[in-house]
Amino acid sequence: MKKSFGEYRGSSNYIVSDELRNAVNIAIALQKPLLIKGEPGTGKTMLAQSIAEGLGKRLIVWNIKSTTKAQEGLYVYDTVQRLYDSQFGDHDVSNISQYIKLGKLGEAFVSDEQVVLLIDEIDKADLEFPNDLLWELDQMNFYIPETKETITAKHRPIVIITSNAEKELPDAFLRRCIFHYIAFPDPEGMKEIIKVHYPDLDKKLMEQCLEAFYWLRTIPEFQKKPSTSELLDWLQALVIGGISPKRITEELPFMGVLLKKNQDLDALLWHLNNRPQSRIAHRQSFHLR
Ligand SMILES: Nc1ncnc2c1ncn2[C@@H]1O[C@H](COP(=O)(O)OP(=O)(O)OP(=O)(O)O)[C@@H](O)[C@H]1O
Ligand SMILES: [Mg+2]
Repeated sequence: MKKSFGEYRGSSNYIVSDELRNAVNIAIALQKPLLIKGEPGTGKTMLAQSIAEGLGKRLIVWNIKSTTKAQEGLYVYDTVQRLYDSQFGDHDVSNISQYIKLGKLGEAFVSDEQVVLLIDEIDKADLEFPNDLLWELDQMNFYIPETKETITAKHRPIVIITSNAEKELPDAFLRRCIFHYIAFPDPEGMKEIIKVHYPDLDKKLMEQCLEAFYWLRTIPEFQKKPSTSELLDWLQALVIGGISPKRITEELPFMGVLLKKNQDLDALLWHLNNRPQSRIAHRQSFHLR
């Protein structure tokens, strides 16, 4: 690994597996975008923050929406402002460059220092979106016809792209990326994640919560399984509510923090009441609060 690129070792607030750390460093060394997939809440977005923090670089975030077009990441030409200025303003509108507003990719290219560029949730956009960015991500430049100017990256940004796999990405795009799938953490891995967020959490409370959480994730009817961020919120709610670890073996308080769909709460109730083999079915009474 060339040291000159800077090696990512992780950051104090983010738990990273050896495989993921290697994938990051390979992507940096090969100067290719790193495509990260994984269930919601597996730390995809936070990885980019951790890389920026770990390497001491600025993070530029491009949040992709269903309506986002690739062009917006390069630049937009504010013709409306120019028209307005030509009619009501008193300054010269012939200099078009003042109406060219760089997008996130453009911003990353003109930065005087190397930045980390997060293209978050690329699969939200339409299928053309990744294809439309192939040239720019490969060549790290683009042309602005309005000003006859070419914007070339002063320093190739470290590009992190996340996807929830809502849509398959085009092959030509995949070919250009390094890929890593963040698997849902096992209980031991989850303990590490909890510890960086709540270092002083009662051990017994953590154990009980993890047992309940991983049991909940086995319920096949759930439309939305609770994820890491919901578990972290649940722990916080239990601490604030002053719930003792023992009570979590008797009831499942604040379920609305973990489950967000009526159907999932119904499925949970059904499992609690109908499954004699369920891990908590031996209890006399269950309360969902
Ligand atoms: N490896 C980790 N180390 C520390 N915290 C983590 C880790 N993974 C997840 N988290 C925590 O879980 C929460 C969700 O993380 P994040 O938003 O990065 O997930 P995501 O994969 O981007 O989710 P989504 O697909 O919903 O956007 C954050 O609060 C983050 O702090
Ligand atoms: Mg995210």
